[in-house]
Amino acid sequence: MAELAHRPFAVVILAAGRATRFKSKHTRSKVVFPLAGVPMIEHLLTTLQQLGPEQVVIVVNDEVRNELSSHYGNLYDMVIQEPQLGTGDALATALPALKENIELVLVLPGDVPLVTEEALRGVIGAAFGADAAMLTFEPPEVKGYGRVKTEDGLVTKIVEEVDADASELRIREVNSGIYAIERKWAETALERARNEFGTENRKGEYYLTDIVHFLRTHALLYHPAQDLMGINDRAQLNEAENVVQGRILRQHAMNGVTFVRGETSYVEAHVKLGQDTRVLPGCVLRGETVIGEDCEIGPMSYIEDSRMGDGCRVFCSHLVGVHAEAGVNIGPYSNLRPGTNLADGVKVGNFVELKKANVGAGSKVPHLSYVGDAKIGEGTNIGAGTITCNYDGFDKHETHIGNHVFIGSNSTLVAPLTIGDGAYTAAGSTVTKDVPPDALAVGRPRQENKEGYARKLREKKAEAAKPDAGEGE
Ligand code: UD1
Ligand code: MG
Repeated sequence: MAELAHRPFAVVILAAGRATRFKSKHTRSKVVFPLAGVPMIEHLLTTLQQLGPEQVVIVVNDEVRNELSSHYGNLYDMVIQEPQLGTGDALATALPALKENIELVLVLPGDVPLVTEEALRGVIGAAFGADAAMLTFEPPEVKGYGRVKTEDGLVTKIVEEVDADASELRIREVNSGIYAIERKWAETALERARNEFGTENRKGEYYLTDIVHFLRTHALLYHPAQDLMGINDRAQLNEAENVVQGRILRQHAMNGVTFVRGETSYVEAHVKLGQDTRVLPGCVLRGETVIGEDCEIGPMSYIEDSRMGDGCRVFCSHLVGVHAEAGVNIGPYSNLRPGTNLADGVKVGNFVELKKANVGAGSKVPHLSYVGDAKIGEGTNIGAGTITCNYDGFDKHETHIGNHVFIGSNSTLVAPLTIGDGAYTAAGSTVTKDVPPDALAVGRPRQENKEGYARKLREKKAEAAKPDAGEGE
């Protein structure tokens, strides 16, 4: 890997363009479109951390600034480009914001998020002994990219596809939009490009690419091409997602995580997985999810913003905002909603919904239950079909269940309610009053057996069903 010069350099990210080709009615800022669940630009910003630039300046429009601020606060320097007159104009807007001591400017388009640290070190290195350097590549599909003409490794012209003639269109080497430029030349080159070329092109914009006419620019042809992919529409966004997913899975694999048929799962950028954890096919792991060691996740599970300890098992289940300690067993078909906290060794079984529920160590909610706004102690068993009635149409109420409680199957627990340690509820009970510790609550009608009733009923029905029943001879 090329060593970075010990010269202070700044990064300018161009992100003020309108995302017209994304055709969104919600946003015109493409750099905040999610890639692996985080804004596209965050991939770039993370890569930059490894390079340690002196300064990062992002060129934005108002909308992009607001969206970036909502994600990152005031972590980054931003300059507003208004109106957006093209990539050349965008860089010109950023230059006055650079610190005095900056010697080299690394220019990155905000829509080329897959570029690697290695590629960036390469272009910075290649700028030595020239005025500038740029990364070029040969993608399988050149459509949409500026074509690059070179002579002896120096760029002589970059022509945008819309402005290219037939022979230029055949060129396979294209512009990544990534340049390292000596600061002292950047301003004059932009000025000259503005004066000599203006906006005399098919897009009517100031093209940054025109500066190569005024700078000795090294072309650095980079492989693999996919790292330099530009994302101008949602088809390219989808392609980029495939690349990012490949990288994320590879990174987890290198850390000792097994993915079985990993290409069937989707894992967002911030997700952390512990050593020897296995992810079975068809999982979606999102947000700030952290999963411990020796877990088995899947198949077919959705986990978002959840934390799980070591040795947990999640089978065909849906978890959002869940915190589980070690050795917790979930599923199949559990729906665990925000505020669910499961202590060590808890079991949550099939067709169980939990919401804002704390379940103590070793307790079980094995089948067909709804438990919401509840606290359950340790070693308690919640019988099949138990429902906490937490909502009276106006307010939510809590249910408190102690340690070593046995809730009989099909109990209806009408909150607010407290069930003491060691208590029982009889199966099928509707429990409306607090239950003291060690008591048995029976909240159902007493059973009555009517001897012979069923037989008599059958006989009566059989008689009525005879064809000539009731008719005389
Ligand atoms: C640009 C290059 C093209 C290159 C391609 C690589 C030019 C003229 N063309 O084309 O040669 O092959 O990138 O992906 O530079 N932006 C601003 N302000 C503006 C206009 C754009 O900040 O006024 C930003 C955009 O938000 C974007 C980046 O600059 O992040 C590039 O602009 P885009 O419109 O995507 O240019 P391309 O057509 O992709
Ligand atoms: Mg682009």
